[in-house]
Amino acid sequence: MKKKIITGIQPSGVITLGNYIGAIKQMVNFQEEYESYIFIADMHAITVPQDSNTLHNNIRSLIALYIACGIDPNKNTIFLQSENEYHANISWLLECQTPFGELSRMTQFKDKSSKSENFGAGLFTYPVLMAADILAYDIDYVPVGIDQKQHVELARDIAIRFNKKYGDTFKIPDVKISKSGTKIMDLVNPEKKMSKSSDNPKSVIRILDSEEDIRKKIMSATTDSDCIVKYDVENKPGISNLINIVVSLTNKTVEDIEKEFENKNYGEFKKYVADVVVDEISKIKSRYYELLNDEKTIDDILNNGVKITREIAKNKFNDMKKRMGLYK
Ligand code: TYM
Repeated sequence: MKKKIITGIQPSGVITLGNYIGAIKQMVNFQEEYESYIFIADMHAITVPQDSNTLHNNIRSLIALYIACGIDPNKNTIFLQSENEYHANISWLLECQTPFGELSRMTQFKDKSSKSENFGAGLFTYPVLMAADILAYDIDYVPVGIDQKQHVELARDIAIRFNKKYGDTFKIPDVKISKSGTKIMDLVNPEKKMSKSSDNPKSVIRILDSEEDIRKKIMSATTDSDCIVKYDVENKPGISNLINIVVSLTNKTVEDIEKEFENKNYGEFKKYVADVVVDEISKIKSRYYELLNDEKTIDDILNNGVKITREIAKNKFNDMKKRMGLYK
C-alpha cells in the first residue's frame, strides 16, 4: 500500500517561489510514489481579515496554479478545506485536548499576534485546525517549508496524546522538508522569509511574474561586498539564499555551485540564478490562464476531491466521537 502525503496552502495571493519550493515542488516530485492529498487552506486564510471577493478569486486561482505547476489531478486528491466540514469538527474535538500553553508557544502565533492588537481567536487555534487537516487522513508525511515544521510537530504531539488517552486512533505524521532544507528568503531583506503578503514587490518572486521582472528582481537582490559565491547564512544571507534557490531547483549541491562560481562575480552568478528560475517557472503561466477560464474543470476537480475526503474525514470524526463518549 502506498504511503500518504498531504499539504495545504492558504489562498492569500499569487504563490511565491518560496511556496513553490517549500510545498508544491515536493508534492509534484512525490505524486507518483505516494497517495497524495493537496488542499486550499481557506479556513486558515480567514484567521486574518480577508475581503470576500478577493478570497473567492484567490481560491479559484490557486487551484489553477496547483495544476499549472504540475500537480496532476489524476494522481492527487485536490479539495477545498471549507467544503469538508469534518476538518472543523475534528479540530474542535482536538482543541479541547490541546493545552493553552502549547499553543501560546507557537512562533507563528507570537509573530502574527504581535503585529495587531485585535486578532481573532482563530489565529491562536490555527495549529489545531492544521493538526485536524493532517490527522483526519492517517498521513505518513507532510511536505512543507521549514516555517511550518513546528505546526506539524504539534500535530504529532496532539496525536500521541490522544492515542495514549483513547487508544490507537491516529497515525503519527512526519514532516518532509525540501532538499535544501531551508526557507527561501526575501530578496531585499534576506534575514526574513519570502512571504506572499509582502508589500515590497522587489522582495518576492511570484510564480506568475514576467521573465523580465524575475530577472530584474534577482539581479537587484541584496548581497554583500566580498564578491565570493560561498554558502554562509550568517555572514552572507543574500548569496546563501540565491544558492538555496538554485540547489532546490536543480540537481546541483552547494559545493557544486561554490566550485562553478569560484572565480566569477556576483553579476554572473545572479544571471545564472535568474536563468534557472525562469526556466523552471516560465511554463506555468500559459497553462494557468488556460485553466482559470475553464470553470468546469476546476469545479469537477473540487467536487471530486470533497466527495473522497469527506468520507474519510467523517469516519475519523465518528471514531473520535465514539472514543470520547460523544454518542447517545
Ligand atoms: P502557507 O500558505 O503560509 O504556505 C504554503 C507552503 O509554503 C511554504 N512556504 C515556504 N517554503 C520555503 N520558503 C518560504 N519562504 C516559504 N513560505 C512559505 C510553507 O511552509 C507551506 O508549506 N498552515 C499552512 C497551510 C496548511 C497546511 C495544513 C500545510 C494548513 N493545513 C496541513 C500542511 C498540512 C500555511 O499557512 O502555509
